[in-house]
Amino acid sequence: MESVLSGMRPTGRLHLGHLEGVLKSYVEMQEKYKAFYMVADWHALTTDYEKPKNITENTIEMYIDWLSVGIDPKKAVMFVQSAVKEHAEMFLLLSMITPVPWLERNPTYKEQKQELKEKDLSTFGFLGYPVLMAADILVYRANKVPIGEDQRPHLELAREMVRKFNNLYGEFFPEPKEILTMYPKLPGLDGRKMSKSYNNAVFLADTAEETEKKVKMMFTDPLKIKKNDLGHPEKCVVCSFHKIYNKECIDAVEKECKEGTRGCVDCKKQLASVLNARLAPVREKRAQFENKPDLIRDIIKDGNARACAAAEETMAGVRHCMKLG
Ligand code: TRP
Ligand code: SF4
Repeated sequence: MESVLSGMRPTGRLHLGHLEGVLKSYVEMQEKYKAFYMVADWHALTTDYEKPKNITENTIEMYIDWLSVGIDPKKAVMFVQSAVKEHAEMFLLLSMITPVPWLERNPTYKEQKQELKEKDLSTFGFLGYPVLMAADILVYRANKVPIGEDQRPHLELAREMVRKFNNLYGEFFPEPKEILTMYPKLPGLDGRKMSKSYNNAVFLADTAEETEKKVKMMFTDPLKIKKNDLGHPEKCVVCSFHKIYNKECIDAVEKECKEGTRGCVDCKKQLASVLNARLAPVREKRAQFENKPDLIRDIIKDGNARACAAAEETMAGVRHCMKLG
């Protein structure tokens, strides 16, 4: 069976953008592949090393989010990066063969250094971010890697490392292929990208009331004030959500908005109830795992042990290829 690996940094609660994007493919892929889903806590340190933020709590929160959307710990191996030391060994060995200019050319490296000016990111660890990510993938000899658009350059680098490794030491690793989630981007409440840092997200952990409140805050067409004003649904966040969650009604929503027979208050009420229906099973599952630290601890422990076993097996092969041990 082919294997899949993906990871997320434990930087806070997951939201609807994650649910309709990458989490959906996590759930689908656990049926068809040997799936490894990783909390990338070491990666979180590459940018937040000065003030590590609640990595342990965020890790537990991430497990609860994952479990609540239907990732099944019996099917997928859910593990924590720092618990599998083989990632560090693989990282070190890959660093031997990775030319520094490959890393310096990496567009994400250049962009993030610019964007996060308040942090000193001239570190070896930050430059080596893609090497660690490649190590994560290679340790499980993963064939497929579900990622967001922003991670594509990293995966391309991982493939280059695989080609170089295989050329130097013999065919050992499969070239990992990306699985891009083909889902229309969800806007945040204010129309920008949905993101925790913009404070515009609907979280998986939000209650039905919180969700309803957030829908009320969504930006709408500023020219439509009264119900009978003629609206421009293409300029409205509520409409973008109807498009995704309320497909059967979208033609009616747009038509009524444009001709002034639909008011924003009702339109939002309708959306809130559709969203809450979508989130109801997620909330139900969440209740099974919330406030059960022992249960989560056992799931983490079991996942870590299974990941370690797979990683040890790969590393024995790697050491052999590189004439070590
Ligand atoms: N860099 C990824 C992100 O920030 C997280 C990640 C770490 C990852 N290791 C990975 C993703 C390996 C896929 C495969 O989103
Ligand atoms: Fe948006 Fe609906 Fe108001 Fe039209 S009626 S502007 S789609 S909230």
